[in-house]
Amino acid sequence: MLKNTENSYGLIARILHWVISFSIIGLICVGFFMSSMESSPEKFELYGMHKAFGVIVLSLIVFRIIWRLCDKVVLPPSGLPQMIRLAAKSGHFLLYVFMLIMPISGIMMSRFGGHDIPVFGLFVIPAFEKNGELATIFHTIHVTAIWGFIAVIIMHIGAAFYHHFIRKDNVLMRMIKQL
Ligand code: HEM
Ligand code: HEM
Repeated sequence: MLKNTENSYGLIARILHWVISFSIIGLICVGFFMSSMESSPEKFELYGMHKAFGVIVLSLIVFRIIWRLCDKVVLPPSGLPQMIRLAAKSGHFLLYVFMLIMPISGIMMSRFGGHDIPVFGLFVIPAFEKNGELATIFHTIHVTAIWGFIAVIIMHIGAAFYHHFIRKDNVLMRMIKQL
């Protein structure tokens, strides 16, 4: 029930998948929106929210990766061609890589930019001594990697619909409910 079986995702994996996915989609929308705003107190309030929420999502992502390593691996549906299995495996791996690159680059850009990161009054990630060069490198990573992430997310969502509507297998449903 809580853990995966070879053919179905457990409750914990499903909750983590959907909470993290929708949070990331929210972070992407807010990220682009806040960057396009004119300088104002509201803009910097949104920056603060984006950063604090991003740190919380990173902690969920780390928990998800640990959980994934301890849980059973869900097998692809039988009869899936080797090429598609490989594409799915690489796609999922890339999603995990981007799920780490985005928040870590964000945190590093802020810290090297000389900014503390207060997280909803719970704790503060302290700034490093200001280093413009490193701040720029992490900023470039953050605003460039996002396009790779968006491309993989779009393919991932396309793949989920391909399974559901074209192959008509249980790949989407097993991420939605207990099968
Ligand atoms: C999964 C997590 C995250 C995602 C998907 C994400 C996504 C984005 C996106 C789409 C943008 C707009 C990029 C652009 O304008 O080209 C952005 C900007 C930004 N993000 Fe994130 N972000 C995440 C986490 C974080 C974290 C944890 C921090 C810092 C603690 C952070 C700090 C920033 C900052 C400071 C900007 C503004 C950059 C600028 O003004 O050019 N982000 N983010
Ligand atoms: C930011 C958005 C998303 C991210 C980062 C993400 C990430 C992932 C990852 C890493 C896996 C592999 C799980 C594992 O470890 O086995 C996965 C599985 C899955 N995701 Fe997403 N996902 C996102 C959004 C979505 C959306 C919107 C849908 C549906 C339209 C979806 C449908 C699925 C399905 C059906 C699986 C199971 C695949 C299988 O059983 O082989 N995902 N997702």
